Amino acid sequence: MGKGSKRRRLQKKKMLQGYHIKEEIQPQQKGQQNKPKPETGEVFRKRLEQRHDELRWLYMELYENGSMFAELCDNMWRFYLEREEELKLRDLEREENRSWYKQNDLLGMMLYIDNFAGDIKGVETRLDYIEQCQVNYIHLMPFLDTPKGRSDGGYAVSDFRKVQEKLGTMEDLESLTAACHKRGINVCMDFVMNHTSEEHEWAKKARRGDGEYMSRYFFFDDACEPSIYEKTVPQVFPITAPGNFTWLEDAGHFVMTSFYPYQWDLNYKNPRVFNEMMYNFLYLANRGMDIIRIDAVPYIWKEKNTSCRNLPQVHTIVRMMRIISEIVCPGVLLLGEVVMEPEKVVPYFGTVEKPECHMLYNVTTMATTWHTVATRNVTLLRRQLDTINSLPRDYVFLNYLRCHDDIGWGLDYDSLRREGMEERPHKQYLNDYFQGYTEGSNSRGELYNFDSITGDARFCGTTASMCGVEKAGFERDSYVMERAIRQDLMLHAYMFMQSGIPVLYSGDEIGQVNDYTYKQDPNKAADSRYIHRGAMNWDLAKKREDFDTVEGRIFQGLRKLERIRRAERAFVCQADAWTIETWEPAVLCMGRYFEGEKIIGLFNFSEFDKTAWINETDGEYIDLMSGEEIKPVGVGIPAYGFYYLKKKG
Ligand code: GLC
Repeated sequence: MGKGSKRRRLQKKKMLQGYHIKEEIQPQQKGQQNKPKPETGEVFRKRLEQRHDELRWLYMELYENGSMFAELCDNMWRFYLEREEELKLRDLEREENRSWYKQNDLLGMMLYIDNFAGDIKGVETRLDYIEQCQVNYIHLMPFLDTPKGRSDGGYAVSDFRKVQEKLGTMEDLESLTAACHKRGINVCMDFVMNHTSEEHEWAKKARRGDGEYMSRYFFFDDACEPSIYEKTVPQVFPITAPGNFTWLEDAGHFVMTSFYPYQWDLNYKNPRVFNEMMYNFLYLANRGMDIIRIDAVPYIWKEKNTSCRNLPQVHTIVRMMRIISEIVCPGVLLLGEVVMEPEKVVPYFGTVEKPECHMLYNVTTMATTWHTVATRNVTLLRRQLDTINSLPRDYVFLNYLRCHDDIGWGLDYDSLRREGMEERPHKQYLNDYFQGYTEGSNSRGELYNFDSITGDARFCGTTASMCGVEKAGFERDSYVMERAIRQDLMLHAYMFMQSGIPVLYSGDEIGQVNDYTYKQDPNKAADSRYIHRGAMNWDLAKKREDFDTVEGRIFQGLRKLERIRRAERAFVCQADAWTIETWEPAVLCMGRYFEGEKIIGLFNFSEFDKTAWINETDGEYIDLMSGEEIKPVGVGIPAYGFYYLKKKG
């Protein structure tokens, strides 16, 4: 830390202790150095003062309950007091630099703690590896207490304040977040707020008939109301967990379960639920989280005769969460999990005056990317990127090729229809392609929630398997392997060029393939998402420095891409971004411009060499990958190749 920043931190320390920020720092008297000053709460009060009226307004609009609101404010103060000083300093720094996450220097990786390193302590010992991947944001997949075998990958939480025993303790978590912060790594976790596990203490009490706790969920003593809901509420897991209600034989009641039967939906109409969940949220934020992913957020408010998705009250709640975190822990970012079509996703950013989430997943772009892989036609992807590029620069998207969930084929079918592609046969084509059934496909993977009546299904597989690495390895086919590696890197290069924050799934950085062992585990066998959630293969990772291996090619390729992304200002989130017509259906051309720097990206989605018929004659360009000079006029691009062409200054 430089002298200047040390001084700034000292000033901030004083500020937390109630001094005026501009006050000159006096040399400390001998013996007084480490004496903690009492927290006067000036910072908290200021933040609360600025936001109190709006928060109260929103709270009263939903709950009309002044005493519960007062309780919420008291507890916010309590959590603020309890927050570690180091975290409070981080908050102050980030309050001063609100765009800290909108640059070109964040690279994320999502990982399951046990799969990656056994337990939390294990993750701490692997931070060198994380750094080698140039990752400075790790998303620790759900690690809170969850019943074995009825956990939905940890998304059924039975205790929001306890870590799963096999993974460690809250102290281990705090030690990990502190170690990460020392290295400049941000930590993200899930906040599963739509539901609890049936093993959560509230659920247990509700099951025993305690009215106070039953009112925290949706309980019905006969099928009448559930059947009204079922008329308008779609299903999340139509095959693995059909219906939105579960009959509890022992309790003689139905309970609402939008996801699995053991995930009971919380009733946010009850202010006790909102308050208690906010306390859990602040408790977790105080463990050192930098990013909190709000799981399944569109679902949290339910009304009869609606789809129970994206209702206006959801936005009120998210806005309140944003305000609460800005008061208690403004260094924490909210990442909304909104897996919906673009019109539904964007409102979760809120407005400039009333922001909601800081970041959202670029889910339609992700699905459209794989559509482009299968069709070798960039038309729809261009349209999708143009839509995203036309949004305000302040919106930060998380870009990814795949995550722990399935790939749902939520594409813009109105546009596809105009080109003669109907939804059902097209989904069928995509699923066939990625299972490796169509000619020219080297992909491997499995369907998810295949409905034999409608023929509908989503898809699961790792990036490398979907690109052909698995097939090529199995068949020892070096030609297919070469193509697979090229395609894998081209897709990452294109993903890194999108505005926002790229996130890798652990294992993808060395091209790990599908893991079929989940089929032997009765707790997982029915859920094909486990095919792409395999354990990190550290033996393969050892080969990452050897360029003659698949692992080395992919690892080093990604490292180079990331170095370029970080070095070039044109990659900041706020740069201008656009697409360019190439007159070649298989080649995507993207442009970025920021403060005099311009980069043009060319990506060939086809297994054949192609020419991009572009005509950029505004100067000389150099390919950042090879260092070669390339004129962006009628550019020949090898099969699955790409260029990052930078305009010379
Ligand atoms: C989110 C998670 C998914 C989980 C669901 C229910 O969509 O990403 O894995 O099944 O929430 O909590």
